[in-house]
Amino acid sequence: MSSKQSQPMQKRSSGFSAHKPALPELLTNPPLRKGMHPIQVVRGMRDLLPSDQPYWKQMEDMAERMAMDYGYARIDTPLIEDYSLFIRGVGKVTDIVEKEMFHWETPGGEHVGLRPESTASVARAYVQHGMLNLPQPVKLWNIGPMFRYDRPQAGRFRQFYQASFECIGEADPIVDAQLIIVSWNLLKGLGLDPTVKVNSLGNPESRLNYKNALVSYFRGKRSQLSEEDKKRLVKNPLRLLDSKEPNMQELKAEAPQMVDWLDEESKAHFMRVLEYLDEVGVPYQLDPYLVRGLDYYTKTVFEWFANSNDQELAQSALGGGGRYDLLIELLGGRPTPGAGFSLGLDRIASRLKELNPTPPAKDEVDIFLAQLGEMGRKKALGLFEEFRTAGLLVGEAFAKSSLKAQMEIANRRKAKWTIVIGQKEVLDGTAIVRDMDSGTQEIIDAKKAVHEMKKKLGLHTQ
Ligand code: HAM
Repeated sequence: MSSKQSQPMQKRSSGFSAHKPALPELLTNPPLRKGMHPIQVVRGMRDLLPSDQPYWKQMEDMAERMAMDYGYARIDTPLIEDYSLFIRGVGKVTDIVEKEMFHWETPGGEHVGLRPESTASVARAYVQHGMLNLPQPVKLWNIGPMFRYDRPQAGRFRQFYQASFECIGEADPIVDAQLIIVSWNLLKGLGLDPTVKVNSLGNPESRLNYKNALVSYFRGKRSQLSEEDKKRLVKNPLRLLDSKEPNMQELKAEAPQMVDWLDEESKAHFMRVLEYLDEVGVPYQLDPYLVRGLDYYTKTVFEWFANSNDQELAQSALGGGGRYDLLIELLGGRPTPGAGFSLGLDRIASRLKELNPTPPAKDEVDIFLAQLGEMGRKKALGLFEEFRTAGLLVGEAFAKSSLKAQMEIANRRKAKWTIVIGQKEVLDGTAIVRDMDSGTQEIIDAKKAVHEMKKKLGLHTQ
C-alpha cells in the first residue's frame, strides 16, 4: 500500500481511545446525536427489495426470450454520456432534456449527463462502431436504469428501468409493425392484456406544416391556455396535445389532426403498418394526438397502456416507441433509418404485482440439512459445502438449534428430503434421510451422502 493510501487508516486509528471504544470515523463525523433521523434513500430513487426481485426476473427473462426469438443482440452502453448527445438526439427543447436531465461538468471540464433514455446512446454506438458495415438491419436490445429529474409520483421515478429494442438500417413499415408485435408479445407473455395507441408524425416537412396549423389554431385560444401551455405554444407546440391541463381535452377536440397533414409517403407507410397489425390481430387504437416526448420521431409512433382498475396505472404508458429515420444522421452518421421501443419496467412491475400479489417462492430446495448439537452442526456445515459444490439445491438453518424449527423451514422451502445429523450420527459416521412426502426415514453412510442423494434425485452419478 502506498503512503498516500495508508493515510486515512492512520487518521482513523488515532481516533480510538483506550477508555472509550470509538466508532469508525464514517459514523462519528458528523457526530451521531440521539434522535438523529436515519439516512433515507434519495427522493425519486428506490430500493428494489428481495420481494420485488421475482417480478424483475420475470421481466428480464421475458425480454431476453423476445430478443432471442426476434434476433436482437444485446448491447450495454454507459449510464453517463456526453450531454450534447441528448441535446442533439432527444432534442434541446424537450422536457426530458430541458428540465429532467441530471447533468454536470466533470473535473476535467467535460459536460456529461446521466442517460434519460437509451435510444440516442444505441444510435451513437451504431455510428461509433461502424455498424453500418454490418448486414442491415442491425437489431439491438438493452435493459437498465434511466434517469429523469421529474416530479416523483406514482409510476414516476428519477431512476427507473427500461427494456429497449432498436432496429437500425431498415425503412420498411414491416419493421414498425413487428416492433409493435414484439412489445405486444413481451407484455402478453407477462400476463398483461394491454392496448397500443398509434399515430404517424409524418416527415419533417409535413410535421412542420402541421405544427404551423396547430399554432394558428391555439393562438386563437391563447386566453384559455395555462401559463405552461402558453410556453409550449412558443417552444414546442406539438406538446400541447400532450398537456394534462383540464380544459385541454375540450380544446383539442377541434384542433387540426396530424393525419390530415401527412405527406403521401408517410400516409402510405402508416397504412401498411396498420394492415400488418390487422393481419396479426394486435389490438390498436388510432390516436391522432399521440405526439411522444422526444424529438427524434418521424412517421410511426406508439404507446402501450394497461387495462387496469387503478386509474393512474391505466393512464400512464407502459412503454412507447416509433420510427426515427433522421436520428443516425443527426448524430453524425450516414443517413440511416431506424425504429424501436422501450418498455417501462417499474410500471410493468406494479401491474404484475397487482395481478399476482404473492410472487412465486424462489427459494425451493431439493435437500434440507438439519442438525442437532454442536457436533452435528459442524458436520452439517461441511456437508452443506459438499452438496453445494456437487451442484445440488440444498438449504440449511444452521443458526437454529430446535429440530422442529428446522423442519418447518424445510417444509416451507419444499425440500424433498431432509438430512438430519446429530451427535450419534457424527460418532457413527452416518446421516438420517427423511422423505418429506412419506415421512419414512433411512440411515445412510455420511461419506456417501452426496452420491446417495444424487441417486434419489435421479441425477447422473459416477
Ligand atoms: P419514453 O416514452 O420516454 O420513450 O419512455 C418509455 C417508457 O419508460 C414510458 O412509457 C414509461 O413506461 C417509462 N418511463 C419513462 N419515464 C419514467 C419515469 N420517470 N418513471 C418510471 N417510468 C418511466 C423512450 O424512452 C424512448 N427511448 C423509446 C424508444 C425506443 N423509441 C424508439 N426506441
